[in-house]
Amino acid sequence: MIKNHKHSKSKEESGSIPSNGKEKQENLTQKDKYKLRAKNLLKQRKELPIYSAKDAIVKSIEKNKTVVVIGETGSGKTTQIPQFLLESGMVRNFGSAIAVTQPRRVAATSISKRVADEVGTKLGVKVGYGIRFDDCSSKYTKIKYLTDGMLLREVLSDPLLLKYKVVILDEAHERTLRTDILFGMLKDIQKKREELYHQQKAKRKSNKKKEFEYNQNLEEHSKKKPKVHTFFGENTELNNKESINVNGKHKTEDNDISKNGDISEKSKDLVETTEKDVEELKIIIMSATLDAEKFSKYFNDAPVLYISGRQFPVKIFYTNEPQSDYLDSAHITVMQIHLETNPNSGDILVFLSGQEEIESLEKLISESNNQIAPNSSSGTLIPAPIYAALPQHQQNKVFEKTPQNSRKVVLATNIAETSITIPGIRYVVDTGVHKVRGFDPRIGVESLLVNPISKSSSRQRSGRAGRMESGVCYRLYTEGDYDKLEEDDEPEIKRRQLTSVILTLKAAGIDDVLGFDYMDIPSKPAMKNALLELYSLEALDENGNLCELGRWMAEFPLDPIYSKVLYESQKYKCTSEALDLVAALSVETLFYNPINSRDQAAAAHKQFMSIDGDHWTVINLLRAYNEYRDNSTKVVIFDQVEEQDLVGTPENGNISKKSNENHRNEELDDQNSTKRHKKDNVTKNSQQKMEYWCHKHFVNYRNLTHVIKVRQQITKLCLRLGINPDVSCGDQTDDVLICLLSGFFYKCAMLQPDGTYRSLSGSQTVHIHPASSMFRKKAAAIVYDQLVFTNKLYAKGVSAIQPGWLSIAAPRLYGQKLI
Ligand code: CDP
Ligand code: MG
Repeated sequence: MIKNHKHSKSKEESGSIPSNGKEKQENLTQKDKYKLRAKNLLKQRKELPIYSAKDAIVKSIEKNKTVVVIGETGSGKTTQIPQFLLESGMVRNFGSAIAVTQPRRVAATSISKRVADEVGTKLGVKVGYGIRFDDCSSKYTKIKYLTDGMLLREVLSDPLLLKYKVVILDEAHERTLRTDILFGMLKDIQKKREELYHQQKAKRKSNKKKEFEYNQNLEEHSKKKPKVHTFFGENTELNNKESINVNGKHKTEDNDISKNGDISEKSKDLVETTEKDVEELKIIIMSATLDAEKFSKYFNDAPVLYISGRQFPVKIFYTNEPQSDYLDSAHITVMQIHLETNPNSGDILVFLSGQEEIESLEKLISESNNQIAPNSSSGTLIPAPIYAALPQHQQNKVFEKTPQNSRKVVLATNIAETSITIPGIRYVVDTGVHKVRGFDPRIGVESLLVNPISKSSSRQRSGRAGRMESGVCYRLYTEGDYDKLEEDDEPEIKRRQLTSVILTLKAAGIDDVLGFDYMDIPSKPAMKNALLELYSLEALDENGNLCELGRWMAEFPLDPIYSKVLYESQKYKCTSEALDLVAALSVETLFYNPINSRDQAAAAHKQFMSIDGDHWTVINLLRAYNEYRDNSTKVVIFDQVEEQDLVGTPENGNISKKSNENHRNEELDDQNSTKRHKKDNVTKNSQQKMEYWCHKHFVNYRNLTHVIKVRQQITKLCLRLGINPDVSCGDQTDDVLICLLSGFFYKCAMLQPDGTYRSLSGSQTVHIHPASSMFRKKAAAIVYDQLVFTNKLYAKGVSAIQPGWLSIAAPRLYGQKLI
């Protein structure tokens, strides 16, 4: 829950709660509590720089079909602009809503929660979110924050995105692959909707004219021929006229009805206008950096609005020497800030590259915390992590107010750069790195590397320190190294693997993927590689057209190579194992390997190890956990979906019948509170057991909960698409590995006489990563999850395979030649 923020006045001061507020609040209904919270937050909203520009923004969006909005991070673009449009009545029609895309799911969930609070409703009703495997919205949702990937998926089921009147592409400066694809798609959708809108308008006008003429005819007719009131017998003419009522709206002329009762062409026109009215689509591009020109030009010279921010000066310090261990330097810097400044002077924000680093620093800080004397004036340091895979209930910690005599240290990936603004930060520690996904189409290698950030990112990071008052930024690199940084990051479309988006484009009916209207055109080799992979996966035919299997694969919100494995699992009767593997691939690792307990961890992991490699090791781990869970307790261990049901949150985007109306939904909340209380206790209890098990076996608890949740969601999808998720092959290791190969056939390497491996795509020398159970083992061939570059090219997540399996698993690519 989002609590008071540092710069907010107390509730008493805001005048909304009487001095004995606590007592009074207990008597309030849930609905009143929502309203009260919104009222309290309104003051903060009004203080945002964007608030004074409200009318100008709304007017500009009303007047133009596309608008580019540039504003500093924290100025209020993401949270306020959708609310301004909602308040203006732009989406008042039933079924008309605003979509706001976010490149990261943590941003979509945390911002939607904040905006639901500001609007004064429960999350999932008027304000909702949509991320992969989790849709918290209803048909009443007016503002939906969703990842760019989810909006792309919505295009597949609703090609004109008719439920949205406005689509906001937020964080456009990040130029993620999916946002880039959405630029082109939305431009096309906007054009089509405009045409349809004008067609409908013209049709409506001509209908009106026809209706008018008809009425006139009727009048003249009845003037000439007095109306015959038949008492007996029939008057065919009159009966015809009276019996035809098109959709209860228009009476048609006699000659519109053919002898056999069909409606002729002329009256068909009248019928068509009673279809759902198409509204013109408004597109808003929002960016935190000053790169407006490119966006404006791409969207036919769309107007640009600049929102001035409120930025206090930030003092920047560089290191004198390059740092060999930036994690250690970050730890020292954080402790120095904490011990040398007053804890009330502001919180600290550290930028790191990923979950592993965040967890390591969290641990180091907790250890240092224990060494600070309890009565020291420095107070306690509270680490608050935030990164993409962090479970939702743990994300809120970063927004919570720091208790007295303590200081928060937010440990974040580049999510805190521009996507989310954390109030109260005054000190920034910038390690100067981030993780970047790359793909080399010539050698077919996808990589996830820790790379230096760009100058633009570096500036954004330091800017986070100057939001409340003047701040300080410690850059853990030298000034010389800063000068060498690139000005901006390269758009993802230029450096990512394109297989998944090309499949989406094909499934959306865009056959000419080479001629698509890209803002930046991807490289030809990357395109060719994606098309060849899709052909080998049997998603496309020889002519590049989408096949039935491709259409099926596009239904899954997964990389096509994973959905292919799930599809093939029916043939090999190993869907349960395939689900384990695909879910486990959603995290980097399930194992926990702390630096100072490596031996203990290795001993604990031994029981899961399989001689066949890392894939079976993961299956063993998940099976062991399930067995423990089944034996120790019969309660649901981690079932977020069920928990959401209790608070009336819709499943699959449809609100349950019981909570069909907003107000009823809020009342339900009160009724459910006792039920939820019991459920909370059960969940807490089972979570503790799960944590205990993970601790004992050196398993990463956060990642395991995530994997279990993802598995539950994919299981549901399988059921919907007619796959039985419970079919298991027992211990038929070969079957599971051949099934895995049917998607992973590019990720294989062959043993060479010198003991190294050579990758099949790209002929690169590959080594097995020391963390793999296959390290030091030799197999004629291997399959792996990913390749990473450090000093050498390492394969991670490795299993032994037989070369002959390849032609069975990928006949289009390997044919008979390997047998
Ligand atoms: O999108 P932009 O960076 O322009 O700003 P925003 O995300 O709309 O944030 C506006 C303000 O809302 C920030 O100053 C944050 O302090 C505040 N906010 C918050 O307190 N809690 C959240 N969960 C989200 C935003
Ligand atoms: Mg924003």
